[in-house]
Amino acid sequence: DWRMDDFVERTINEIREKVGSGRALCALSGGVDSSVAAVMMSKAIGKQLTCVFVDHGLLRKDEGASVDRVFGPEGPYDLNFVHVDARERFYKALAGVTEPEQKRKIIGEEFIRVFEEEARKIGAVDYLVQGTIYPDVIESGLGKSAVIKSHHNVGGLPDHVDFKEIIEPLRMLFKDEVRQAGLELGIPEELVFRQPFPGPGLGIRIIGEVTAEKVKIVQDADAIYREEIAAAGLDRQVSQYFAALTNMRSVGVMGDFRTYDYAIALRGVTTSDFMTAEAAQIPWEVLQKCMNRIVNEVDHVNRVFYDLTSKPPGTIEME
Ligand code: XMP
Repeated sequence: DWRMDDFVERTINEIREKVGSGRALCALSGGVDSSVAAVMMSKAIGKQLTCVFVDHGLLRKDEGASVDRVFGPEGPYDLNFVHVDARERFYKALAGVTEPEQKRKIIGEEFIRVFEEEARKIGAVDYLVQGTIYPDVIESGLGKSAVIKSHHNVGGLPDHVDFKEIIEPLRMLFKDEVRQAGLELGIPEELVFRQPFPGPGLGIRIIGEVTAEKVKIVQDADAIYREEIAAAGLDRQVSQYFAALTNMRSVGVMGDFRTYDYAIALRGVTTSDFMTAEAAQIPWEVLQKCMNRIVNEVDHVNRVFYDLTSKPPGTIEME
C-alpha cells in the first residue's frame, strides 16, 4: 500500500528529526500496536531506543516468555530490551480496589512509575514512546465530550510524568492501518495479526478486585478458549476473543459435592475498527467443548457464559 509506505517513511524521518541524538524509552507490551511502534522507533533511532516490557502480572498465560522470544536477545531484532517483573507491585497497588476507572488509573500510574525508574537507570531519557492508536485517543475523550474509558496509554497518564515528551507514532491510525504499517516494516505475520490485548490486561477482564488467584483462574480459562478457537480454525475470523472472570459465584454440583464457585464469561467479537462490534457466532460445539474443559480443568469455576452483547451498548472489554 503506497500510502502506508509513505506514512511509515515520513514518520520515521519525523521521529529521527525530533529525537536527534537523544534517548527514548518504548513501552513494549508485545501487542500489535506497541510492537509496531517499537520497530518503527528502532528503525528511526537504533540503539538510542530502549524497549521496556513490564510484566504487571495481568498478562495472558505464557505471554512474558513469548515477548522475550520475539524482542529479547534471541529474537530477530537488534534492540535494547529490558524485561521488568513487577507482578507483586501491581497486585499490591490493586488490592481492595473494585471501581473500574480507579483500577485503570492505578495500573496506568504504576506503569509510568516503572518506566520512570527504568529511564533513571539508563539516564537522560527525554522521550517515552507509546503505541496509542486513534480509537484509544477518541475513546479516552480527547476527541469527544464524554470519557468512555480512560485507556491507560492516553487519558490514564498521571498529571506529572518524568519525561519531556510522549511520542505516539500511531495515534492517527486505525487498527487495520497499524497492521499494514507492521507488514511494511517486515514484522512477522503472526505478530501483526495477533488479536489486540489491552494495556491494563487481565485487570479489566476480572470484574471487581484483582487478586493473584483470580488472575490464575482467568489465565487458565483463557488459554483453553484460545486453544479451542485455534483448533477450530477460527482465530483469524474472530477479531478479538478472550475469557473474563465475572464477579459472580453460584452454586453447582461436582460429583456428590456442592460447589460455590466463579462464573467465567467467554467473549468473542467481530469488528472492523473496534469502535463498534458484534458478538461472533462461534459454533455451539466449540463453545460446549470450551465449557467442558474449563469447568473440568480450571479450579474454582463451575459455570461458563457466552457474552452475546454487541458494542454498543456493551464495550468489548468488561471494564
Ligand atoms: P472497549 O472495551 O473500549 O475496547 O470496547 C476497544 C478496544 O480497545 C482495547 N482496549 C484497550 N487498549 N489500553 C489499550 O491499549 C486500554 O486501556 C484499553 N481498553 C480497551 C480493547 O481490548 C479493544 O480491542
